[in-house]
Amino acid sequence: MSALRIRAIGTSLARLDGPEKVKGTARYAWEQSVDCPAYLVPLEATIATGRIRGIDAGAATAEPGVLAVLTHENAPRLASTADPELAILQSDAVAFRGQLIGGVIAESSEIARHAASLVRIDYEERAGELELRRDGTDLYAPKNLNAGFTTDTFEGDVDAALASAAVTLDATYTTPMEHANPLEPNPTIAIWNDGGLMLYCATQGVQMVQALLAPVFGLDPQRVRVISPYIGGGFGCRCFPYADVALAAMAAQLIANRPIKLALTRQQMFTQVGYRPPSIQRIRLGADCGGRLTAIAHDVVQPTAKIKEFAEQTAIATRMMYAAPNRRTTHRVAALDIPAPNPLRGPGEAPGMFALESAMDEMALACGMDPIEFRIRNEPDVDPDSGLPFSSRHLARCLRDGARRFGWEARDPNPRARREQGWLVGTGVAASTYPTYLIPGNSATIRVSAEGRYLVLIAAADIGTGARTALSQIAADALEARVEDIEVEIGDSRLPMAFMAGGSAGTASWGAAIVEAARLLRERLLSDHGGSVPAEGLEVTSDPMRMADHAGPLPGSPFQEKYAMHAFGAQFAEVRVRADTGEVRVPRLLGVFDVGRMINPKLGRSQLLGGMTWGLSMALHEHSVLDPRFGHVVNHDFAGYHIAAHADVGSIEVHWLGLEDPYTNPMGSKGIGELGIVGTAAAIANAVHHATGIRVRDLPITLDKLLQ
Ligand code: MOS
Repeated sequence: MSALRIRAIGTSLARLDGPEKVKGTARYAWEQSVDCPAYLVPLEATIATGRIRGIDAGAATAEPGVLAVLTHENAPRLASTADPELAILQSDAVAFRGQLIGGVIAESSEIARHAASLVRIDYEERAGELELRRDGTDLYAPKNLNAGFTTDTFEGDVDAALASAAVTLDATYTTPMEHANPLEPNPTIAIWNDGGLMLYCATQGVQMVQALLAPVFGLDPQRVRVISPYIGGGFGCRCFPYADVALAAMAAQLIANRPIKLALTRQQMFTQVGYRPPSIQRIRLGADCGGRLTAIAHDVVQPTAKIKEFAEQTAIATRMMYAAPNRRTTHRVAALDIPAPNPLRGPGEAPGMFALESAMDEMALACGMDPIEFRIRNEPDVDPDSGLPFSSRHLARCLRDGARRFGWEARDPNPRARREQGWLVGTGVAASTYPTYLIPGNSATIRVSAEGRYLVLIAAADIGTGARTALSQIAADALEARVEDIEVEIGDSRLPMAFMAGGSAGTASWGAAIVEAARLLRERLLSDHGGSVPAEGLEVTSDPMRMADHAGPLPGSPFQEKYAMHAFGAQFAEVRVRADTGEVRVPRLLGVFDVGRMINPKLGRSQLLGGMTWGLSMALHEHSVLDPRFGHVVNHDFAGYHIAAHADVGSIEVHWLGLEDPYTNPMGSKGIGELGIVGTAAAIANAVHHATGIRVRDLPITLDKLLQ
């Protein structure tokens, strides 16, 4: 499809903003210099549900340096309360523990924090529903899943197929609540002037913040400007703006002519910016004597919030992974008095593929087959869900290539067969997948000077992935220019339209817009200027691909109707389990991925490596413990919420096939941001089973589960 001359794409260009970041001169949102800021410390509800009976802010207001105490009693009325998460301080109601119910504004953050501790709030508490139960009777089918996916799918007769299958499996897997926890807790600087709102924040999408906040304050979107220059990680918790941003904007409205600075604390990151909901997943598989699947069923139960529905697309990967004539996937949710969940690191695929790929391992054993051969035997010819051919699907090749690199052949298939000095040693494998999206609506401006320098403008976000660098490479090739002559400007809502950095679709979607703008520029130069740049330079802007009917699963590529587009991978793990204590170590992870053309091997490797590290973290550590009596996350800091650190990570090897996809986008690439986490936890759980003979179906795999 593309006629790009390959020069910059495919080279391991070092991160262009690396030096600024390392030297500390890259200014993140909190570090933007503003005149005479005031500091805002939020007040969080300390009951799970009920109402505020009274607020005594007397002592707080009397503190020297306190400018105001913002509560529902004096808060500006919002123009729209359509988004209940953003519509804070409009009544005395409390919808979940931690909900923002006010804030203290002061001359320093220390004064604000101290004064916040002096505010007395009297509540009328109501008993809430905080716990997701397996047998929950109040489950319902959400209308859609996150990103517009269909709630349920059915084909054939799963029950009949299971009843007559030679081999069957019926197992339930659970995954816990997890929080995104980027290194930089969410910061906001809000400035209200001339009837407009200016925000510095850390976001995956400046125009998403603009679009969602403007109506809340009754502003034309053009009156809201959002700047997000550098971002310390995203992980999903910055796809959308949350109540902290609305609170800062309200405070800026209240305190005339002073910029308001609000930085969430790490603990507030456990209440304000969403989380991955826990899941209870029942998988049933049926197979014939030859190890061919005849039935696949995946039924998911997850909590959602009464305040706002979010239903994770947990079983979607099960719809397209393996062939079987009888299939069923369902999603049910229970609405609880808790904060709303949101997308987090491979929402859907990450927890869903833990269940499916654990079940595939169990089933391979039940069929007496090697788990790699079992998967390859069940490879579909076309996407079993849509019936469309795959744009490219090299899963079998990833599995075979990975097996060779990992040394799978030497493996004794029997569990608990290898013991080395008190450690039980095992290996496991799992498949990985993530949809390949091209989001419509993106547009780019390219300005060329007579000296041959190019400025590329697009409201994209670099959440730490290296987007600035990758986009420069794409622009260089599209313009047939040197990367040194390209400058890419992103992170400002005034720039041409760009979807957020989400769905692992940033590079593809923004890159496609840049390629289109480059084509337009060359066309314009030829038609209007005889092929050379005029003295005053030239500027073009590509038309945004239409966003009008953005209803179904994220559409985009002109080929999306004709091909099923997904990235794939094979994940291998070696684990060692201490026989007497149950301690689990993962000395080795190896992944081979089918990611189309790699735009930048150095950055791409980092992303996949990071994804696999998340997967290791998901397998062994991450677990937000919600107290069902009070509604708070008990381990709401990095002392109690463990994320894989250096000492937890052994060798991680990342490989990719390097096969360009002919249809996904003009670069022939596939999204890689989230692929690396998918399947890792199952590979580790399968290796734990191989090491110990114990099947852990509940994440995280902690040592208590291995001391049977
Ligand atoms: Mo990703 S969880 O779509 O930011």
